[in-house]
Amino acid sequence: MPSTNRYTGLVDHYRSRLPLAADARAIALCEGRTPLIRLENLPRRLGLDVELYVKFEGLNPTGSFKDRGMTAAVTQAVHEGSRAIICASTGNTSAAAAAYAVRAGITAFVLIPEGKIALGKLAQAVVHGAVVIQVTGNFDDGMRLVKEVAQTSPVSIVNSINPYRLQGQKTAAFEIVEALGRAPDYHCLPVGNAGNISAYWMGYSEMTGRTTSASRAFGEKPAYDLTAVTNTRPTMVGYQAAGAAPFLRGGPVAHPETVATAIRIGDPQSWDFAWEAQRDSEGWFDECTDDEILATQKLLAQNEGVFCEPASAASLCGALRDLKAGKIRPGSTVVCTLTGNGLKDPDVVMKNGLAGLVQVPAERAAVEKALLARLG
Ligand code: F0G
Repeated sequence: MPSTNRYTGLVDHYRSRLPLAADARAIALCEGRTPLIRLENLPRRLGLDVELYVKFEGLNPTGSFKDRGMTAAVTQAVHEGSRAIICASTGNTSAAAAAYAVRAGITAFVLIPEGKIALGKLAQAVVHGAVVIQVTGNFDDGMRLVKEVAQTSPVSIVNSINPYRLQGQKTAAFEIVEALGRAPDYHCLPVGNAGNISAYWMGYSEMTGRTTSASRAFGEKPAYDLTAVTNTRPTMVGYQAAGAAPFLRGGPVAHPETVATAIRIGDPQSWDFAWEAQRDSEGWFDECTDDEILATQKLLAQNEGVFCEPASAASLCGALRDLKAGKIRPGSTVVCTLTGNGLKDPDVVMKNGLAGLVQVPAERAAVEKALLARLG
């Protein structure tokens, strides 16, 4: 008997809600089905009246939400006969592209910014055998170059300007609605290139039977299942790093800078989609400083046992601030997406991480003394 219950990934699981051909072979790594973890200690310790969840996308196969978009984009690219994919990346997209290209047996070209990329992400691109092209510039330069070379070279772009990327990523919203039995009141995300916030808004909208501009890239009434399973959509809230906050400045930022290298982006490609999400959900954008982001990463790690990367902490950082200020209504259900795994970027926490290290001789008495000093 063939096993019919094994989960293989979101393309096969949600195929009826995706614009993929029925016979397109899924290029998949069991991505999706990430945990929705209810935070228990933080709301209590901070005295917040909230049902607060994190959607931990760092537990996808390459450690970020990019796997959701990549499985859909690479499935479609291979179906169309593509032999190579290309992307610009601050790290996570390149890691996902590299892995899914291997899975498909095609070539991945990844353009990364000079210097500012977490070592774990670069290691992923390298170990999966992607062709890594370091550009003497930032992500926005890489993005411009990818669009230029794809006009003349036989490569498929797998950045989120590829509409299949957002289609794959919208499934995170499906999972949340299924887990909660309804949409949350607020959904908070870090915003860089702005694809993910657009994808969630599409996913939540489609769960009410509505479409968004991103859905309509596949026709005025897309030829996939839009059956409503809930009535409500959340208020969408996007948080940016203060040094890379074009949505707060009202236009592109020439020299984005932030410790959260994943969202070090000055010219977001999904600009219009993201504003649509903000406008139609009556949400807002806000910014967090690097110090606030790092403090939140630590707060989460030390109160809940969840280790996310700095960019991901921006969502929780902003949400906690807006909860304290009452901007997010008390008593609400709030979901924050933790976009990537903290293990990708250990350098950032190890900068001061060794300060608490206790060194002792290899003797029982010395270890016992160290224990006693800390047990009080
Ligand atoms: N969080 C992480 C960990 C990311 O890697 C990214 C984007 C974002 C948030 C922002 O998501 O771009 O959809 O608004 N990383 C891209 C990359 C740009 O190349 O890996 P977005």
